[in-house]
Amino acid sequence: MRTVNVLAASKTYDVLIGKDAVTSLGTEVKRLCPKAMKVLVVSETNVAPLYLDKITSQLESIGLEVISYVFEAGEQNKNINEIAGMWNKMAEAGFTRTDIVAGLGGGVTTDMAGFAASTFLRGIDVIQIPTSLLAMVDASVGGKTGIDIPMGKNQVGAFWQPALVLEDTSFLKTLPDGVFTEGMGEVTKHAFIMDLALFDKLEKANGNIRDDEDLLEEIVYMNVSDKASVVSADETDNGRRQTLNFGHTVGHVIERDSGFTKPHGVCVAMGMGIIMDACVRAGTLDKNDAEKMKNLLKLYKLPVTDNITPEAIVNGALNDKKKRGDTLSVILVNKIGEAEIKKMTKEEFLEFLTV
Ligand SMILES: NC(=O)c1ccc[n+]([C@@H]2O[C@H](COP(=O)([O-])OP(=O)(O)OC[C@H]3O[C@@H](n4cnc5c(N)ncnc54)[C@H](O)[C@@H]3O)[C@@H](O)[C@H]2O)c1
Ligand SMILES: [Zn+2]
Repeated sequence: MRTVNVLAASKTYDVLIGKDAVTSLGTEVKRLCPKAMKVLVVSETNVAPLYLDKITSQLESIGLEVISYVFEAGEQNKNINEIAGMWNKMAEAGFTRTDIVAGLGGGVTTDMAGFAASTFLRGIDVIQIPTSLLAMVDASVGGKTGIDIPMGKNQVGAFWQPALVLEDTSFLKTLPDGVFTEGMGEVTKHAFIMDLALFDKLEKANGNIRDDEDLLEEIVYMNVSDKASVVSADETDNGRRQTLNFGHTVGHVIERDSGFTKPHGVCVAMGMGIIMDACVRAGTLDKNDAEKMKNLLKLYKLPVTDNITPEAIVNGALNDKKKRGDTLSVILVNKIGEAEIKKMTKEEFLEFLTV
């Protein structure tokens, strides 16, 4: 098993990664939350039948009373009604400030479990047990929690760091292929913006990382280290953490324009490809490097462009919550493994994207 230590300003915690990490859950929770008597395990209808029993028996083995909250799987349920359901269940069971929440599932689940924990009794501990690739390498690390509202995704939430993140990479075996591919959007993003060694490893693996347990564990570990180092440097998203938005300014627009029918990770890949092309045209990125990066996306079954127009991108991006004032922070990669934050006006961004 491998450990990544996250040093966020508000809390320091470990991410444990391994193909049998689940066997450590009981002892770790006992050590970190010695006063806990009750735990609400939040999960959903796809994941609970596969792993809830395993998690429950680990938690019961240290004397915890386990209460589960299982919601219907899917982003459409990442809403306040489910959060209220979690609050009520904890209140009915007499949870106190030393009791805990555990999130068992993909990013939808970990975002909601974290938000419920951040608000119940003004904040109780949360243990994250991510089960999708995206949740392991991205959503469960860094303390962003939240829900969607009709006006937009992730519009309500809180920064709430977990007490522990436990990533059992053997859980990835049951992940549908398409969902795994989506997670690769964020994995390749980490390689492009900050991790040349990861880039090389992914290239060498030639698109085959799912079936090699040791390699998969190592790749998850490298990604968690990347995300942790950015989060540790910038907990609340004002500086370096913004580089994690590479491909997202454009990707979010494509995602929204599709009515959320195109998956997030796929849209991010398209967004990264579009920005790479623009960097090549601007003369800041070497054409061969752009080709190498796009080939890596293709190797992992991701697209590298979309037919969205520059005007649609710019108009959509200006409605995005991540803009600040009249300028946009656009993340560029001008060298494999290094990102740059560039402020652009609407006009500059349009010109940059226009062939
Ligand atoms: N907090 C953050 O920093 C952050 C970062 C990125 C994404 N997110 C959020 O994460 C969410 C997307 O995460 P996601 O892609 O994991 O979505 P998800 O939670 O919907 O999971 C994707 C699908 O995989 C299934 N699944 C998950 N683990 C499985 C397993 N081991 N075996 C079988 N099926 C499994 C789920 O049931 C679901 O159908 C979005 O809501 C997004 O906003 C948050
Ligand atoms: Zn993303």
